[in-house]
Amino acid sequence: MTENKRILVTSALPYANGPIHLGHLAGAYLPADVFVRFQRLRGEDVVYVCGSDEHGAAIVIKALKDGTTPQAIVDRYHEMAEKDFAAFGMSFDHYGRTSSPTHRETAREWFRTIAEDFVLKTERQLYDPEAKLFLADRFVIGTCPNCQHPDAYGDQCEKCGSALSPAELIDPRSTVSDATPELREVSHWYLPMGAHQARLEEWIATKTHWKSNVLGQIKSWFTLGLGDRAMTRDLPWGVPVPEDVAQAAGVDPEGKVLYVWFDAPIGYVSASREWAEAQGDPDRWKTYWQSEDTRLLHFIGKDNIVFHTLSFPLMMMLHGDRGAKYVLPENVPANEFLNFEGKKLSTSRGWAVWLGEALEAFPADYLRYALLRALPETKDSDFTWADFQAHVNNELADNLGNFINRTVAFCVKYLDGTVPAIEERDDVTALFAAASEHAAALTLALDECRMRDAINELMSISRAGNKFFNDAEPWRTRRDDLAHCHTTIAACLQLCASLSIYIDPFLPFTAQRLRAILRLEGVRDSRPGGEGELGWAEAGGRLLSPGHALGEPEILVRKVEDAEVTAQRELMEKRAAEAAAAASGGAPYTPVKDDIVYDDFAKLDLRVGKVLVAERVKKSKKLIRCEVDLGFERRQILAGVAEHMSAEDLQGATVVVVANLAPRKMMGMESQGMLLMAEDREGKLVRLEAPSEPGSTVS
Ligand code: 2FM
Ligand code: ZN
Repeated sequence: MTENKRILVTSALPYANGPIHLGHLAGAYLPADVFVRFQRLRGEDVVYVCGSDEHGAAIVIKALKDGTTPQAIVDRYHEMAEKDFAAFGMSFDHYGRTSSPTHRETAREWFRTIAEDFVLKTERQLYDPEAKLFLADRFVIGTCPNCQHPDAYGDQCEKCGSALSPAELIDPRSTVSDATPELREVSHWYLPMGAHQARLEEWIATKTHWKSNVLGQIKSWFTLGLGDRAMTRDLPWGVPVPEDVAQAAGVDPEGKVLYVWFDAPIGYVSASREWAEAQGDPDRWKTYWQSEDTRLLHFIGKDNIVFHTLSFPLMMMLHGDRGAKYVLPENVPANEFLNFEGKKLSTSRGWAVWLGEALEAFPADYLRYALLRALPETKDSDFTWADFQAHVNNELADNLGNFINRTVAFCVKYLDGTVPAIEERDDVTALFAAASEHAAALTLALDECRMRDAINELMSISRAGNKFFNDAEPWRTRRDDLAHCHTTIAACLQLCASLSIYIDPFLPFTAQRLRAILRLEGVRDSRPGGEGELGWAEAGGRLLSPGHALGEPEILVRKVEDAEVTAQRELMEKRAAEAAAAASGGAPYTPVKDDIVYDDFAKLDLRVGKVLVAERVKKSKKLIRCEVDLGFERRQILAGVAEHMSAEDLQGATVVVVANLAPRKMMGMESQGMLLMAEDREGKLVRLEAPSEPGSTVS
């Protein structure tokens, strides 16, 4: 650990054009929140900022498609993100937004300061005359010049894999309006990254402690050679290019805005400025950003590595050359991607778990725990609802929750809810030694942002507690050695109290409930500005005095039922089906039901039947009464198909019948089986033909 430095933590600003999903959390947010809460509990001076990334072409295009304005889009999703993050327990010191006046001013100051380092270039770009937009990358499709694929994107042909530029496409068309784009000459400011590659390489060479996935990506860009990157765009939405800079370069500033990846990282600075203003000390942000005594950490997903390790640091270096010096990141602990149920996350294909929906179904701490277990720290990982259930039930409930519940319940039931005195005993010494060893490893893992290792150490502490409880058998010693029993429970209660601090970064809501159960006061709140004399360093000590009265016991972690996770899987499948249908312009296919085994299927007795009589049931919109010959007997079957076919359609037909469905009454008549029908995507029923003799089995 680096002592006595301020800690400045950022999480990637999420685009305000869609809801937050669990993939976001696993990359940039949850690990940062755990880290920050841990540092606050240690008494470190921490500022944690984030906010909504509200610019960029994607937001303009979403607004056009939804028939609304970019402002309306960002307002909606900014509010949603703030609410969902709060419910999930994200403890930002400030959550800003890049459409704020402070941000606009800050981003323009940066552009102005480093304007002389940019290279101004004039190039031809595709313009959509209907949407009045320049079409970057994915917003134009056309025929690939290499393989003739008719739907190649402006930046890449997905069929032959070749990298393209929009102007190379044959017969291009705008994905926004379908119009044929025109080529227009435009001027933009480029950051000449290649010219500064040696400086960046020298700086990165000092980062030997960075994660190998991050260093690996950086190395491959260096090998390819860094190029010039345009830092401005022609868009009707964004931070306007400073007029004085444009005029000095002889460029019309009208419609020119900063590239979203220029302004977004500056959003960290503007969020910090807003935080300082809210503290009543407007310059305080400088003591974090413009100081060498700061540990700056950027928590991001792997798709943001280039911006946080090369382009934003270069912007900071150049700003420092010409104006105020900014601290460069000490670490960029980027995570890989989280897949869901074995498939890549895709919001357009509806394959994601939205945070807001997940929080309606489960407590935030359950989601936090299972996500921490599945963090893609070194490679892509998979989140499945089955694993979620297993992690919560087997680890949170059966290990941690069980240790706390059994300890508190025992004390309340047999010891009057009062913390007993503790006496020296070898097994107690061994328990505390084991706990302190795991706590030391936990501390190191947290400080080094190895969250999966950290959670393993955490669970080892409560596992040691459970083993101690089992071996010490307080239920027996309560009868024959009360002092032994007292010491056992006192030791377990002290460990519970320590756990209420150790679990806090991971499970902040559960930690607070545990402290209420123990009536443990004085623990520092891990949220911004938290006060209290007991922190991380005090955990492991004797936090509860003999004679202290516990609060009301309650079950800390409940089990997740099968039906709850099945419902979540079905929800994902339904949404994916809807997205596929929307993409293909039709109604969704019904999702495939959960697997059954052969024995389940073999219980069905399916037979060929011939409909001898078919007639509408009076006063029923749906029912047709059929008399069906099954060869060995004649049955009355009521079919709910009258909205899809007439009685005449059924009369004389050979059909498939579920012959062993228990009889049931409808409209006062008994139905002795069921006719099988096909139901298409629009919900229309169609009769199945079974040209075989009545009574034949179907399997
Ligand atoms: O990838 C994204 O979601 C971006 N909006 C992240 C921006 S990070 C930062 F630089 F603001
Ligand atoms: Zn191609």
